[in-house]
Amino acid sequence: MKEIDWSKLGFHYTEPDYIVRAGYHDGVWEEPYATKDKFLHLHVSATCLQYGQEAFEGLKAFRGVDGKIRIFRWRDNARRMAQSAKGLFMAPVPEELFGKAIRLALEKNMDFVPPYGTGATLYFRPLLIGTTPRLGVGPGRDFEFIVIPSPIGPYYPGKFHCTTFIVNRYVDRAAPYGTGQFKVGGNYASSFRATEAAHAMGCDCIFLDAKQHKFIDECSAANFIGIKGNEYLTPKSSAILPSITNDSLMILAREMGLKVTRRRIRLEELADMSEAAACGTAAVISPMNKVVDTEKGITYSFGDEPGPVLSRLYHALKDIQYGRAEDKHHWCEIVDQ
Ligand SMILES: Cc1ncc(COP(=O)(O)O)c(C=O)c1O
Repeated sequence: MKEIDWSKLGFHYTEPDYIVRAGYHDGVWEEPYATKDKFLHLHVSATCLQYGQEAFEGLKAFRGVDGKIRIFRWRDNARRMAQSAKGLFMAPVPEELFGKAIRLALEKNMDFVPPYGTGATLYFRPLLIGTTPRLGVGPGRDFEFIVIPSPIGPYYPGKFHCTTFIVNRYVDRAAPYGTGQFKVGGNYASSFRATEAAHAMGCDCIFLDAKQHKFIDECSAANFIGIKGNEYLTPKSSAILPSITNDSLMILAREMGLKVTRRRIRLEELADMSEAAACGTAAVISPMNKVVDTEKGITYSFGDEPGPVLSRLYHALKDIQYGRAEDKHHWCEIVDQ
């Protein structure tokens, strides 16, 4: 085990021993290989640098209560990355190659898998970039797939708590027929103006639909969930990333007897909700205590403690990830050690 003070790990990058790489040239993917070199020898005119031809993913491995390591729903990340690749005219990484690369990254960095009970996990950042040099605007033909592992601390180092969200009307994250449904760098760089402004106030932000600024699209880099009576509500929009956490929570919510509805959600409907949250791999669920609409002078309040329905869902999913509850849906791949 590495000399890492797991309790002090924040939610940021810690250098692993190895990363994993595989190149794509002349229509063929290389076998993934591990390397200690964290630098790329990249042409200055590579399409990822010139035109933002890149996509990424984020997933985690958990050390369970039984000491076993579980990788959560990696096939879904592989499929989503293939969609992002198609969206940006890149060669999709075959699912089996994606899985092999994740397993190799884990195997080569076993010492970086945090022990059970620390709340820390091993995060994987798969990355796909266009490497063909091009000055004429257009996609490349060569690609590099990289998996960067890093241990990360728990999102909530203390107890599960609430965050305030600010409604943003100044920056559109993604257009209705744009790239919001893909996990590509451009979506994030373009939203920094809004997310950084919110962070400066100790908050996160809510993005509205870009066409009318009427409906909730996403929350910073996470999906939105609201609880209204016995209903789990989440936005339907062509501009949002299909969150794997949200998909898992919807399945668990149905099993708990909630009605799950995916539809357009007007911002004002927050007034009828008893609980609201952002959801994603990083935190599972980030409950909202308040949503502040500064322009309209309205504050939607949900209480300062996480509500009962979202708390139950949060613990139900974490229990599966840490092997404390039965994995009925086969979401976790247990890795031989
Ligand atoms: C824009 C955006 N929405 C939603 C999510 C949540 O997706 P997931 O649950 O697959 O992490 C993420 C994080 O990956 C994201 O970046």
